[in-house]
Amino acid sequence: MSWIQLRWHLQSDQVAQAEKLLTDHGAVAVVLESLADEVVLEPDPGATPIWQLVRVKAFFHLDLDVAELGAELKQLDPQLHENCEFDFIAEQDWQAALHQHAIDRRFADRLWLLPKSRAADPRPENIACLYLEPGLAFGSGSHPTTRMCLSYLAESVRPGQRILDFGCGSGILAIAAALLGATAVGVDHDDQAVLATTENARFNAVDSDQLQVFNLQDWQRLTEADFVPFDVIAANILAGPLQQLAEHFCALLQPGGRVVLSGILPQQVDSVVEAYPLIDFVKPVIEDDWACLIGIKNS
Ligand SMILES: C[S@@+](CC[C@H](N)C(=O)[O-])C[C@H]1O[C@@H](n2cnc3c(N)ncnc32)[C@H](O)[C@@H]1O
Repeated sequence: MSWIQLRWHLQSDQVAQAEKLLTDHGAVAVVLESLADEVVLEPDPGATPIWQLVRVKAFFHLDLDVAELGAELKQLDPQLHENCEFDFIAEQDWQAALHQHAIDRRFADRLWLLPKSRAADPRPENIACLYLEPGLAFGSGSHPTTRMCLSYLAESVRPGQRILDFGCGSGILAIAAALLGATAVGVDHDDQAVLATTENARFNAVDSDQLQVFNLQDWQRLTEADFVPFDVIAANILAGPLQQLAEHFCALLQPGGRVVLSGILPQQVDSVVEAYPLIDFVKPVIEDDWACLIGIKNS
């Protein structure tokens, strides 16, 4: 099916009203993008911060009355003729387009990350296959911060180890660890992530003996009462929270246990290392301007 596409440049305070107007006029989808490459990293659950300058894209059926919609939009944006344009977009195979982003990657010849659509294919022996939905920035394995953690886990996890994936998102790291023979725990402060991890674990036939998933509040109650120390803690959650969580992570780790910390910009490495005096770090791994820190608890 073909569509009419509208592209409109707006200030952040105009966006809510614009979205309503477009939806009221039958937009089947409204997409917001940053116009000036402003980066919003990891908002808190429920928070929806927006960029100062926004590109709004809306898609309409071909019977849209463009003149009527244009007249209404002009009331919200008097400079409409400069900020807005309509064009046609042709039929595309969206499913095929999505699968171009599908991940198909092996890690240390022990872990093979594949899209869910390949789950029915014959499975090779001697390599753990992890199936996830393609296309998401995080959690599908297409982001470098995730890939660096997966490489480390695939190289180092041994059967029987206890692994904590803090900030589990889709569960990719925890499920990978479980498929490599570890007993994993996934924790996230976002209930959607807890749900996604649980569903992805089920899809990959990882049961609750191999992987337990908690939201942050339940996890805090549990760890206050009782916990068994971990052999590995993996956390791909940005430098700020990694620094705040340093003491918690060190308390949860066995002497000689390891951390793999990701989501760090190269210029933030020193401040993260400083927050972990009990950990001896090796040289950071860098990929696509992201750093990943691997270290051993020294006491
Ligand atoms: C960048 S994603 C990483 C997801 C996945 N572990 C990966 O490596 O692709 C970060 C995840 O951590 C969660 N998160 C961020 N800060 C957190 C915090 N302070 N406590 C618990 N979860 C947190 C977010 O909700 C999100 O699901």
